[in-house]
Amino acid sequence: MIIKKLQLLLLLMLLSLPSVFAQKMIGAETDAQKEKRMEWWKDSRFGMFIHWGLYSGAARHEWVKHNEKIDNAGYQKYFDQFNPDLFDPQKWAREAKSAGMKYAVLTTKHHEGFCLFDSKYTDYKAPNTHAKRDLVREYVNAFRGQGLKVGFYYSLLDWHHPDYTIDEIHPQSPKDKSDASYAALNKNRDMAKYRQYMRNQITELLTNYGKIDIIWLDFSFPRKDGHGKGKDEWGAVELLKLIRKLQPGIIVDNRLNLEEYKDGADFETPEQVSTAELAKYRGKTWETCQTFSGSWGYYRDEHTWKTHRQLLDLLITSVSNGGNLILNVGPTARGEFDYRATNALDSLSTWMHANSTAIYNCTYAPDTFKIPADTKLSYNKATGRLYVFLYKYPENGKLTLPGYNGKIKYAQFLNDHSEVLYKTDGDDLEVKLPAIKPGFEIPVVELTLN
Ligand code: GLC
Repeated sequence: MIIKKLQLLLLLMLLSLPSVFAQKMIGAETDAQKEKRMEWWKDSRFGMFIHWGLYSGAARHEWVKHNEKIDNAGYQKYFDQFNPDLFDPQKWAREAKSAGMKYAVLTTKHHEGFCLFDSKYTDYKAPNTHAKRDLVREYVNAFRGQGLKVGFYYSLLDWHHPDYTIDEIHPQSPKDKSDASYAALNKNRDMAKYRQYMRNQITELLTNYGKIDIIWLDFSFPRKDGHGKGKDEWGAVELLKLIRKLQPGIIVDNRLNLEEYKDGADFETPEQVSTAELAKYRGKTWETCQTFSGSWGYYRDEHTWKTHRQLLDLLITSVSNGGNLILNVGPTARGEFDYRATNALDSLSTWMHANSTAIYNCTYAPDTFKIPADTKLSYNKATGRLYVFLYKYPENGKLTLPGYNGKIKYAQFLNDHSEVLYKTDGDDLEVKLPAIKPGFEIPVVELTLN
């Protein structure tokens, strides 16, 4: 009997091993402390990603160096040409703010290795181009000046650095993919030196620009055959410790490959997923990153731009599933937002001006509220308001709120605070909306709950 009990205990311990590992910690922050640190970010819901670098000049995807297998010599022309004569970060910040975005994340260095900031550790940087200055500093000052939170994207990959070892996705990866070819190519490369380079640069970024609110490290691709990169290649645990030491309040994405640690990341980053997939992330802490068109860097000939409705759907669906949306702009090589991006931001700005109360500080509705047909819901716990996003405007203005009888005390359009009347119908409420839809792609009805 005792033996049986011991066996059972052993079995239970074995079964719980994975969750024991998931609790592994790098630091000592409590759940409550983390909650507090993440508060502004969760309440913000909407941010701007900015992908800007030498690839903006090639204007055919930020992975152009990889896609076309260009080496450093072949890529040099983009460095020589780089001349952002129209760069006006104040204008960027104004556009972001007016679109309702609360934070921004700029590529200080993307996979191509070019640095927009003045780093002591490389010559491959904006101050050595026609720009002749630290562009990151100007971004920081402008965005912070407009009251936006400031984030840095920093690429873990570096297709320019001489010590960054050639892996499966490096532009110079060997055609035959054999270990011998990799070994020959990497004979004089030393990842330990590259690791130190990253630490040095991240130290610069997190020391020389005041308080930095977010760091977005990108990305890990561990491979069994050794030709990928993950936590060991990055020295990720030590890197994260360094980041937290330099900027204790900072928020860090989840691409360091530290999944085995409970505090190895602050948020998940579903990239370019469909709105249907976002429901899976309910209950987690997450931010979906999305482009206006297919590419992150400016891509002149890419014409599949998302419509205003698609962008709104991304924002609303994110909030109605308890997550954030970071929407990307790829400025041109001259340093401007392309007119298509500006148009998209302008439309968002009109909508957000009238409806942002249904976005900020909001999350998914309690389960007790059924989602009315052709709508999505968001909910502000602090104010006790429920928001109904009218995806399809009801034809005769008749909106049924199923099972809502007794649950609400007032209903109005959010855009102009005009009352909408309703009557009870059994358990349901029948809302009588005007026959003509208000002038918003997706209008919002605000319900004050009992
Ligand atoms: C990917 C891409 C990259 C882009 C990023 C944004 O990892 O490599 O080009 O910066 O996603 O999420």
